[in-house]
Amino acid sequence: CEKQDGLPLRQRLLVVANRLPVSAVRRGEESWSLEISAGGLVSALLGVKEFEARWIGWAGVNVPDEIGQKALTKALAEKRCIPVFLDEEIVHQYYNGYCNNILWPLFHYLGLPQEDRLATTRSFQSQFAAYKKANQMFADVVNKHYEEGDVVWCHDYHLMFLPKCLKEHNINMKVGWFLHTPFPSSEIHRTLPSRSELLRSVLAADLVGFHTYDYARHFVSACTRILGLEGTPEGVEDQGRLTRVAAFPIGIDSDRFIGALELSSVQDHIKELKERFAGRKVMLGVDRLDMIKGIPQKILAFEKFLEENSYWRDKVVLLQIAVPTRTDVPEYQKLTSQVHEIVGRINGRFGSLTAVPIHHLDRSLDFPALCALYAVTDVALVTSLRDGMNLVSYEFVACQDSKKGVLILSEFAGAAQSLGAGAILVNPWNISEVADSIRQALTMSAEEREKRHRHNFRHVTTHTAQEWAETFVSELNDTVVEAQLRTKQ
Ligand code: G6P
Repeated sequence: CEKQDGLPLRQRLLVVANRLPVSAVRRGEESWSLEISAGGLVSALLGVKEFEARWIGWAGVNVPDEIGQKALTKALAEKRCIPVFLDEEIVHQYYNGYCNNILWPLFHYLGLPQEDRLATTRSFQSQFAAYKKANQMFADVVNKHYEEGDVVWCHDYHLMFLPKCLKEHNINMKVGWFLHTPFPSSEIHRTLPSRSELLRSVLAADLVGFHTYDYARHFVSACTRILGLEGTPEGVEDQGRLTRVAAFPIGIDSDRFIGALELSSVQDHIKELKERFAGRKVMLGVDRLDMIKGIPQKILAFEKFLEENSYWRDKVVLLQIAVPTRTDVPEYQKLTSQVHEIVGRINGRFGSLTAVPIHHLDRSLDFPALCALYAVTDVALVTSLRDGMNLVSYEFVACQDSKKGVLILSEFAGAAQSLGAGAILVNPWNISEVADSIRQALTMSAEEREKRHRHNFRHVTTHTAQEWAETFVSELNDTVVEAQLRTKQ
């Protein structure tokens, strides 16, 4: 950083992600209302004092007219956000198509869609072309706002092409790329028609980060096996140029959750929930309504538990919050109906005139209600079939310091590597195993719960989102300095 009066100026950080951390709603021709969505990334960067973050991304709305675009750009500037405007066709092909129908399922081991593998190669190609075009549009906005010395941090599978576009424009730009999903085994990545082009584009970055060491290892083997490059303990080498590859496990802003429990709005919710579910153990699932989250498998395991443990039938309730997501993608529409069908059947089978075993909500909760729900829960069920990290498990632990409830956690979530010692780890595909783990959780002794909670609570409160962001950015700065020194030698 440059210095002024002996004090370091904060380094500017351009955070580029598909979605801006605000939802924009148009109120009139030139008027917009904006609401900040405090996801993991936002809280991570808000807490970091060393640099000043600016966000570049899609505002999630179609704004075809220039007046609307100007007004939205102005409104977003106050929140340090810079929009990338994508038209409906690009969104359809890039976001619904290539990102969410191809890369997302593939990276979560659900394979490529059949129709793309066989008949509609044209649609695969046009979706990939739109993906590249959209990434170039993001790059154009970054280039316009970039100032020398800025750090550019690209996020997630939507923007794998971006590092290449940025470096082609300015080889000296400091570029990091971080993947929030798993990176699959190279045998899975091999099936992707655009496998090499994507790997090469990511390798243009100076630093490439993943949540776990396994994902980083898979990425390096994909580069060695598919591209024939050399993998080193530091990363991937191509003709003397090193792309540093490493694991940076994300965390949450634990203080925000712990602090929220003191708020009167949260205390009111807690009181209400305790009254509502008095005499019953509360089990909780909070997920986006996504096939990777294993919601049908979780509910079927709960049904098996009820089937085999009649004693518990009127003493336990499962609250499943399923937040709708990517609703224009057909796979997600099918999943919604499938989940509704299973929930209806189980409630019909085990419910009574006054109570049902499953409360399923297709919507998100506001922050106070969510914290209260975490706090009153006896057993949280995170049964993702695959998950980059899964921060719901972290949020639950942060809110459980009085109750010391049990976390049932999929071994296929990145979080299993950090919270595994405190949670009951399960294979979510094994319905009987998950059903057994529910019984184990409900009957666990207080001492055992305390011991497990301590372990997880310590981890969640010491490996925070702020620390994650600081570590990544300082590693990126160091990587670039080391590369410059190597070139000079
Ligand atoms: C995952 C992805 C994020 C994405 C989020 C919500 O966590 O890793 O990049 O923003 O899902 O999905 P959406 O498609 O609504 O942005």
